[in-house]
Parts: sequence; structure tokens; C-alpha cells
Amino acid sequence: MEETGATVGVHDVSFDVNEGEVFVIMGLSGSGKSTLIRLINRLIEPTSGEVYIDDEDISKMSKEDLREVRRTKLNMVFQNFGLFPQRTVLENTEYGLEVRGVGKEERRQKAEEALDNSGLLSVKDQYPNQLSGGMQQRVGLARALANNPEVLLMDEAFSALDPLIRRDMQDDLLDLQEKMQKTIIFITHDLNEALRIGDRIALMRDGKIMQIGTGEDILTHPANDFVREFTEDIDRSKVLTAENIMEPALTINVEADGPNVALQRMRKEEISMLLAVDRKRYLKGSLTAEEALNARKNDKMLKEVIDKNVRKVEKDTLVTDIFDMISDSAAPLAVVDEEDRVVGVVVRGSVIGAMTDIDTKDNDSQSTTETEEAADKEGVSADA
Ligand SMILES: Nc1ncnc2c1ncn2[C@@H]1O[C@H](COP(=O)(O)OP(=O)(O)O)[C@@H](O)[C@H]1O
Ligand SMILES: [Mg+2]
Repeated sequence: MEETGATVGVHDVSFDVNEGEVFVIMGLSGSGKSTLIRLINRLIEPTSGEVYIDDEDISKMSKEDLREVRRTKLNMVFQNFGLFPQRTVLENTEYGLEVRGVGKEERRQKAEEALDNSGLLSVKDQYPNQLSGGMQQRVGLARALANNPEVLLMDEAFSALDPLIRRDMQDDLLDLQEKMQKTIIFITHDLNEALRIGDRIALMRDGKIMQIGTGEDILTHPANDFVREFTEDIDRSKVLTAENIMEPALTINVEADGPNVALQRMRKEEISMLLAVDRKRYLKGSLTAEEALNARKNDKMLKEVIDKNVRKVEKDTLVTDIFDMISDSAAPLAVVDEEDRVVGVVVRGSVIGAMTDIDTKDNDSQSTTETEEAADKEGVSADA
């Protein structure tokens, strides 16, 4: 500003958005989010730099080509819904197709399809002011999707809605996204919203990007003090999952190994329990030293002595839900994938660590002492 007399809206920002990704741009009011998203469809002309969709440089396109791209590839959903009050829901939804010159029959059919997808068909003949804010925003979204754009630009689309309706809208968007696999650039000033819906998040401040990464990246490896402070108040237990805090599991293959192998492994690792798996690492149970000794003494197979009631969680279980399971028992939980194969264990120490925000476990850093102690006590090594 001092040098040029101009407010710098966006400065030195560079990033890629992957096809089919929900890319969130987050930052406080005035950080440059709207300016940035408007550079993408050239509602604001960039002073310098390039914006590519596939191999086309939007920033160098003729007005005519740009209009075509806006009609067919890019659609924007605004915070204030942007609906025409004198048009019905159906007519609003048809609008983009109408502008594109799509015939009456076809555009009606496409619009109805989009409304149906969003559960709005029953209100198609109503006018926007007859609908709640949440419903209006749903119509705004359906209208954008009726055009079947490749890229959806959403500028604080949910920010004006009540928290509960907002949550519903986030769920709806995620459901729709599962079906449609659009590339979505979504702006919000709300970190919880960003974490909920973003595959990746770009955190902005003063027109610059402070950090780009997954929600977990940003929470567990903040790039600087600003990001750390920004994410400080987030309840990590509602974002982090079993997969984020698990330790490598020490296992015994009950199809191939006998009690001696099991006991030797426990001795070597200085632990008193192993997870029992089969050849394909499907979870079969747990095996304690006592059970292994029993098998050796009575000449039994490990299969016969394991405890089949081993407790387990799926890898995408939220830490907050794991806490409820682990708070009444010190035994570690097996972490399994969608097919019930063992991928790790969670011990109480790391659950509590994630809940209380002391330290969050990641695979390339040292475990906390607390985690190691907990792991030792509970018979599972903290290191592989
Ligand atoms: N048309 C404009 N003229 C001058 N300054 C603007 C204009 N639009 C936005 N700004 C300024 O640019 C900065 C970024 O604004 P904006 O992109 O709207 O932020 P956000 O969407 O993150 O709230 C702010 O300082 C804002 O005051
Ligand atoms: Mg804005």
C-alpha cells in the first residue's frame, strides 16, 4: 500500500487443486479469500500471474472464451444465495442452462434432476422468499450443479446459516460430492467447517497463504505461530482418528506360529500381550504371556488359547469416540481397516494425549514419554 497506494488483495499465492477435490480456502475476514476465488473466474482481473484450468490459461483468455468457460466449466455459489426473487425454484435452477441456450425441454429436465438430487423437487414451484435460508442455499447449490460444471466455486456459501442448518448443508454437500465428484473450491472463515469438508485447506492471512495441507497436517504440523494460534482452540479429538494416533501393532500369526515364537517375541519386545492375526492379518484375538505359557504346557495351538474378545476400532474412528471406550480399561485397542485387518493399536496414553492436546502422535517423530510409559504398562511397545 505504501509503495503503490493500492490495497494488496492477494499476494504471491500459488497452488494446485486436484480434480475431484474439495479445496478449502480459509482465513479471517479481510484475509483475501473472496479476492482469490474471484481471480479464478476473473470476476477480478489479476494484476499478474496465471490461472490454469487444465491447460487453458484463464487469465489470458478472450472475453468470449471466458464467458464460455464460466457457462460450462465454472460455477459460483454465493453467500447471499443469488436467487431471483421473481422466479420459482425451478426457474431459478434452469437459469444457467437458459443462458447457455439449452432448449426448454432439456433444461427443465436437467433442472428437475438437479432438484431431485438435492431433495428439492417438492418445492420447485415455490418462490425463494417462501423458503428458509437453508432451503434457499440448497436451491443455489442445485442451480450451480444443474449446469454440471467441472469446478464449483463456493464463497462462504454456508456462513450466513444457523449452525444446525449449516451442519446439514455440509452433510448434503459431502453426500452430493460423493455422487458427483466435482472439483470444489470452498471458502470459509470457520476452521471447523474447513476441517469437516476439506480434503485440503489453504490458510490465508493478509493476502498470503500461510499453509496448505490436510486438516491433520495443519493441526499436527502448523507451519508457523500464526497457524498454531489459529488452530489452538480446535478440539483435536473431533478431528483426529485412530489412524492418526495409532502405534504399530505387535502381532503373532496364529496360523503359522506356536507358543515359543510368541513368548520369544514378548521377551524381546518386553511386552506381555500380542495381537493374534491370521496370515492375512485379519484380527483373531489377543494373546497374553499366560495364555502362551498355557499353550506350551498343555501342548495346545495358539488358536485355542487366544482371547477372542479383543477390543477393536476402525481406523477412521474419531479420538473422541475412542476415549469413551478406553477410559474404563487400560487394555490397548486393535485398529483395523475396512476389512478387519490389523493396521495398528491405540493405547490410552496417546488417546489422552490427543484429547488434552499435549502432543499428537505422528509416525516419524518420537513418541512422548507418556505414550511409551502407557504402552509399556499395557503390554504394547510404542516403537515398531
Ligand atoms: N474492491 C476493493 N477495493 C479495495 N479493497 C478491497 C476491495 N475488495 C476487497 N478489498 C480489500 O482487500 C482485502 C481482502 O478482501 P477480501 O478478499 O474480500 O477478504 P475476505 O473474503 O477474506 O474477507 C481486504 O483488506 C479488503 O478490504
Ligand atoms: Mg469474503
